[in-house]
Amino acid sequence: MDTVGPAVEWNPETYERDAQRALEGASTSEEVERVSVAFLGRRSPLKQSLREVRDRETGMQLNAVREAVEAAVAQKRAEVEAEELERKLTTEIVDVTLPAELLGPIRPRRRGSLHPSTQVRRDVEDIFLGLGYEIVDDREVETTRYNFDALGFPEWHPARSRRASLYLTDDTVMRTETSPAQIHKMEQQRPPIYMLSIGRVYRRDTIDATHFPIFHQFEGLAIDKGITMADLKGTLLYVMRQLYGPDREVLFRTHYFPFTEPSMEPDVSCPICGGAGCATCKGSGWLEMGGSGMVDPYLYEFVGWDPDEYTGFAFGMGIERTAQLRHGIPGIRPFWENDLRFLRQF
Ligand code: DAH
Repeated sequence: MDTVGPAVEWNPETYERDAQRALEGASTSEEVERVSVAFLGRRSPLKQSLREVRDRETGMQLNAVREAVEAAVAQKRAEVEAEELERKLTTEIVDVTLPAELLGPIRPRRRGSLHPSTQVRRDVEDIFLGLGYEIVDDREVETTRYNFDALGFPEWHPARSRRASLYLTDDTVMRTETSPAQIHKMEQQRPPIYMLSIGRVYRRDTIDATHFPIFHQFEGLAIDKGITMADLKGTLLYVMRQLYGPDREVLFRTHYFPFTEPSMEPDVSCPICGGAGCATCKGSGWLEMGGSGMVDPYLYEFVGWDPDEYTGFAFGMGIERTAQLRHGIPGIRPFWENDLRFLRQF
């Protein structure tokens, strides 16, 4: 395109024709814009003359020229844009059935996956949502009042020691378990309560194969009228079968926890050997799963309820431990090391 702009000699008589000719040579929308700027832009002879017009007749003549050129540009613009669209539609076809390799060298994109702890967490949440439990989040920095006092921890309890727990001040501590969530819930709401709380807990443990200062627990609390230990056992049996398969059995061993009476440690029949005895269950056929029990009446009194009105159960278990058993992961450290060679397996 050689003649984009108007003739050097400004001539209103031939202006429109010159513009038409320039437009004929334009075949892209950019070229059309260039012609438009040259003939109609602020510095075009037409616009400059319009600015200087003093008499009505010349004004009318120049405005007529302007309108004609504007119409010509608009028409050409529409034509070129339609052509461009047509060209795009016919040339830029993506054949979605074509094997990607044929389009050139490709590096397959690896799909990410959820951390094994997150997978278990979501499964546990799904199981309890299915049972009608409410999932609640809770704080990780606790007062000793909620972490220990409210839960009936005696003064001498070893968990209160600064060597066992991570204190921030004299009366605040990184929560050592998810159980304080029980008290917060009871302070907010009267029974019926069916609550599950999942989150991180902290202990001053030296790192080894089975210990890490941070891990996750899930904590359940059910309080209602007429709840018995049979409900606790039935609930845990259901949950263990959901998590580890339909053939699992649950066994209760008596134990002690400050906030349950009686207290039990639930064992699940070993999902690896089915209960026959193997290295994972150390030959016993059973695996410890955490703690549980009937809510100690002390807790009802602590939140100001009549201890004879309700009964309930509670339980707490480890998320990493659950993932370890599901996948046969030997220790807890890989959960926190973010080694992709480990994480990519799940
Ligand atoms: N909080 C206990 C722990 O970390 C586990 C536990 C035991 C939770 C008994 C409970 C329970 O809710 O009733 O070892």
